[in-house]
Amino acid sequence: MSKISLDRLLQSQGFGTRKWCRELIADGEVAIAGETMTDYRAAIDAENLRFTVFGEEWEYREHVYLALNKPSNVECSRKPSNHPGVLSLLPEQMTWRDVQPVGRLDHDTTGLLLLSDDGQFIHAQSSPKRHVPKRYLAITFDPVTPALIAQLTSGVQLHDEPAPLAAQRCVQVGERQLEIVLEQGKYHQVKRMLAAAGNHCSALQRIAIGGMTLESLGLAEGEWCYLDAAQRQLLVPQTD
Ligand code: URA
Repeated sequence: MSKISLDRLLQSQGFGTRKWCRELIADGEVAIAGETMTDYRAAIDAENLRFTVFGEEWEYREHVYLALNKPSNVECSRKPSNHPGVLSLLPEQMTWRDVQPVGRLDHDTTGLLLLSDDGQFIHAQSSPKRHVPKRYLAITFDPVTPALIAQLTSGVQLHDEPAPLAAQRCVQVGERQLEIVLEQGKYHQVKRMLAAAGNHCSALQRIAIGGMTLESLGLAEGEWCYLDAAQRQLLVPQTD
């Protein structure tokens, strides 16, 4: 990788405008390998770079890929209206980097949400052609019945859809609990499918995307982590 000036490097990592980054440098707030950097023009090799800003250590990342355990009452929208937005759960640098959620969960849906500043990754993950299965745990208002499972797996007709939508898999896991796997990501899909099948969703959690489970990440509600390349591989549709 070619070298990049220190002010541009900080800007690329979400530390604010170039002017602001230059001020941070001039104020002695930026260090590399323990050395305070005072020249914003210093040419830096960003590969595998670790640096500190205000004493906090950061690693240079061309793009960031994040998983968040989304709590309830948080909106995925970029302009949240009734609740805080998901970006408020992340360091401010992520907003400056233009990190965005990959698809959306409803404000009252909890669980696994991916976020990134890599447009290609966001596009690929959200593409309907990609068929990355998403697994949800739904708490139902009425008890789950074999007939409900049969309806969800054979397909239910939603008002604005041309054809019935079917769950890829649907398993009862409690009297009022079912796990449902969907390949599509239609608006309010789980809730609308349950309603169309004559039940009602009283709580919803996304517990897996492709081969990545929320449990394996060990995130408490509201916590997030970076995803490395091996973890991102779990998000690619598996051919069997
Ligand atoms: N289906 C829903 O109904 N809501 C979500 O947030 C995700 C899937």
